[in-house]
Amino acid sequence: MTALKFSEVTDESIRRLVDEFYARVRDDAALGPVFANAIKDWEPHLATMRDFWSSVMLTSGRYKGNPVIKHRQVEGISYEMFERWLALFDETARALFEPALAAVFNAKAARIAESLRLAVFYRPDQPWPPTAA
Ligand code: HEM
Repeated sequence: MTALKFSEVTDESIRRLVDEFYARVRDDAALGPVFANAIKDWEPHLATMRDFWSSVMLTSGRYKGNPVIKHRQVEGISYEMFERWLALFDETARALFEPALAAVFNAKAARIAESLRLAVFYRPDQPWPPTAA
């Protein structure tokens, strides 16, 4: 049976995306341990992420926070992990959404990921992108 895919940004489609994405993150060999170490109680994190995507996609203003500071504090986060995060997000969005809707989410995610990655890893005296240590 083919599941009907979401074609619109709504609270419901955001909820499904966030819940499914973080379920996959938790099972992921590279990302899972970093999240497991940082997040003990998942429900508040999922609620924050629903608010975040609601603010990004529906300009609801529900998310109040500072992702740059948070990500600078995440133990074990790496430059390379952002590629994996985006690949998993893309996979999840395409599994749940019509292609045009998945593309809108993925374009936003890619831009935000790049700005976070710069904010966390850019050093003015080092090459960009960073060379492997
Ligand atoms: C390498 C990739 C990433 C890793 C390992 C990662 C990890 C984490 C972790 C562990 C937290 C919880 C921090 C805490 O509560 O102390 C968090 C929060 C968050 N992440 Fe990420 N993240 C990544 C990429 C992204 C990207 C690409 C986005 C957006 C498109 C994003 C958006 C957020 C937001 C909005 C929060 C909530 C911050 C807050 O509490 O206000 N993350 N992330």
